[in-house]
Parts: sequence; structure tokens; C-alpha cells
Amino acid sequence: MQIFLDTADVAELKALVDTGLIDGVTTNPTLVAKAGKPFRPVLAEICALIPGPISAEAVATDAAGMVREGNLLRAVAPNVVVKLPLTPEGLKATKILSADGAKVNVTLCFSAVQALLAAKAGATYISPFVGRLDDGGHDGMELVREIRAIYDNYGFETQILAASLRTPPHVRDAALAGADCATLPPAVFRALYKHPLTDLGLEAFLKDWKASGLSVE
Ligand code: E4P
Repeated sequence: MQIFLDTADVAELKALVDTGLIDGVTTNPTLVAKAGKPFRPVLAEICALIPGPISAEAVATDAAGMVREGNLLRAVAPNVVVKLPLTPEGLKATKILSADGAKVNVTLCFSAVQALLAAKAGATYISPFVGRLDDGGHDGMELVREIRAIYDNYGFETQILAASLRTPPHVRDAALAGADCATLPPAVFRALYKHPLTDLGLEAFLKDWKASGLSVE
């Protein structure tokens, strides 16, 4: 499963790129607004930092406007993925941009039939929002499982990008459900390394090693 970071914070990305485990980045208008920098320059900075797919969202609500903005975003760097909302206009624009060779991430997916439409429109990625469904009392991960089954039934190549993941168990369950990618806030990514038994085990190993007087060299 590919791991993307869900942030437009360049300092956070710089701190985590050296892990060698980050395959791409997703942003949304809220995250870009929070970064507090002009959109396309910050996108260029992110694209230069991480060579994988970088999702940048159009904010127009009509298909022509989305195509126009999508083309502006694509011109920033070859690894830009145009992110469009799952609306009738968003899927019209998805079809136009995909036919023109753009990679499109269809976002704000909350049902399996929406995901079916996005795949038919030629989306490269579909982003089911797991955490927001959980927030509303639904089982968000069930949506990922349903999309996996539907895409496998018909051989759709659209990749499932599990989004709105809030905890390490969300990441585990997305991987078990067969998501192709997961996008995580930096704090959730950092938490994936953690297990108290790892810390305790390492502490004991180092203590015993020190007491032995042995050396690796
Ligand atoms: C994904 O593309 C979105 O940017 C993101 O995962 C939304 O997460 P949230 O529901 O925690 O805001």
C-alpha cells in the first residue's frame, strides 16, 4: 500500500521525506489555506520535495472552470494530480482531463455508487473519506471494502486512496481492505512506528549489551 501524507505543510514534509517511506502527498483547500502561502508556489515546492503523486484541488464548481484550474495546476509540475470533487460537474471535468492525459483524484467520496461513477469517468484515484463517515456514526472502512469489491468485479484500474484516516487502526484496516494508497496526517504517520513493547524491548537489549562490554566493531 502506498503511503501519502495529507498536508500542505512544507516543514512537516521536509521532516518526514528522509524516512524513505512517503510515496506522495494529498492536499485540499483547507490544508492549503492553513499553510498560509500562495497556492501554486507551495505546490511547486512540495512537488520538488517528493517525486510521487501530489494531489492539488481545483476550487471551481463548474466543469469548464475545473478543467481550466486543473490545467493550471498540472502545469506546475509533472507529478501533480488534479483533485476534483465527486459532483456531476466534477466527473465531467474528470472525463475531459483524464482523456487529455491528466491524473485525477476524485475526492469527497462517501458511497460505493459514487466510486463506481468516478471509475467510469476515468479517475486515477478515488478518495473515500473514512473518518468523516465514522464521525457520522457509519462504518467508514466498509465503504473501502465495498469499492474494492466493485472495482475488482469489473477490473477498474482506478486506485483506492483511503482518506480522512485518523488513527493507526484506520491505516491497518485500509491495508486489510485492499486500499491501494492511504493518505495520513503527519501525526498519524509518526504514530505508525510506535509500540510500547518495541521501546521496552530495545531498552532491555541495549542495557544487556552495555553490561556485557561487547562491541559490534
Ligand atoms: C483527503 O484527500 C483529504 O484531504 C483528507 O484526508 C480529509 O481528512 P479529514 O476528514 O480528516 O479532514
